[in-house]
Amino acid sequence: MKNILLKLITGSIMAAGVALMAGCSGSETSNTGAAPESMINKPAADNGEGIGKFSGVTLASFDAAIAASGKTIFESKCSACHKITDQKIVGPGLKGVTQRRKPSWILNMITNPEEMTKKDPQAMKLLEEHLTQMTFQNVTDDEAKAILEYMREIDGEGTAAN
Ligand code: HEC
Repeated sequence: MKNILLKLITGSIMAAGVALMAGCSGSETSNTGAAPESMINKPAADNGEGIGKFSGVTLASFDAAIAASGKTIFESKCSACHKITDQKIVGPGLKGVTQRRKPSWILNMITNPEEMTKKDPQAMKLLEEHLTQMTFQNVTDDEAKAILEYMREIDGEGTAAN
């Protein structure tokens, strides 16, 4: 009896999931009957910096000591969901992230992930792909910057070639 109940429950969860996915792809493709452009509440143009307290961040020269402290924080707060290769686990592999995103975007994602996945086009896309919400890991701004320094290291800064 228990088993049958369990099967029923998992069955309906799966059905709900399928319905949800169908609903998503449907809304993406159906552009008919759109409201006049003046009525659409358009988000501000995406400048690639993300949403949060960081904007216009420029990087100083690479600092190996800061990167080392970033590595320690990363391993305790982030590595359950992220690899530093390009391999996805819960979240995307972070190799190459400093090439595909601006520094401010990365810092905003680390310190403000919930708002980012609701409002920032790139982060929204990531949530669609990964279907798990990244949550704020209680990192300070300085810790976020140290992690960013570590990501620069992963992406090859501070090596002989740079
Ligand atoms: C519970 C799992 C989880 C934890 C813990 C987590 N993340 Fe994430 N992260 C995700 C997921 C999932 C995404 C994709 C966006 C989403 O679905 O919310 C993401 C996205 C990102 C991105 C964007 C990657 C890209 O390709 O642009 C960065 C950068 C990032 N996380 C850094 C971190 C850092 C740094 C930490 C630790 C402070 C951390 N994350 C902790 C799950 C996690």
